[in-house]
Amino acid sequence: MTVEKTSTIPVQGESDVVKVRQSVRTIAVEIGLSLVDQTKVVTAASELGRNLLIYGGGGEVILDLVTDNVRRGVRVAFVDEGPGIADLEQALRDGFTSGSGMGLGLGGAKRLVNDFDLVSKPGEGTRVTITKWR
Ligand SMILES: Nc1ncnc2c1ncn2[C@@H]1O[C@H](COP(=O)(O)OP(=O)(O)OP(=O)(O)O)[C@@H](O)[C@H]1O
Ligand SMILES: [Mg+2]
Repeated sequence: MTVEKTSTIPVQGESDVVKVRQSVRTIAVEIGLSLVDQTKVVTAASELGRNLLIYGGGGEVILDLVTDNVRRGVRVAFVDEGPGIADLEQALRDGFTSGSGMGLGLGGAKRLVNDFDLVSKPGEGTRVTITKWR
């Protein structure tokens, strides 16, 4: 996989999540995603951006336009150095929340994209990476 274009967006507040949404939309349009697929990846990015803010205490989003020679995609990594997630299976389960949410963000985001990768260590932080392919 090759990275054609990359940008990093620091996320410390709600307005940064809006910026993430807009930037993901722009790349999604650039690679020619359908309106439905644009909305799917933007929605996933919005959920993960909110998690990064609420649970991770902020962090950064790395937005890449990637290609594997056959197709292009938008890849978004959400990186924080917050408390991390002790039980990944539980966190991904629909309806589980440690806060006051609906517990649908992670599972929902996973279903909206093609590739979903969650790496976390308690005390070290969390990295969630999603890719939507054209
Ligand atoms: N970046 C993160 N750092 C630490 N814990 C996280 C992070 N992201 C998610 N979690 C944990 O995973 C749980 C499930 O996340 P998920 O997004 O599915 O639900 P929620 O945020 O609680 O509710 P919703 O997204 O529906 O508003 C969270 O309640 C939290 O405990
Ligand atoms: Mg959430």
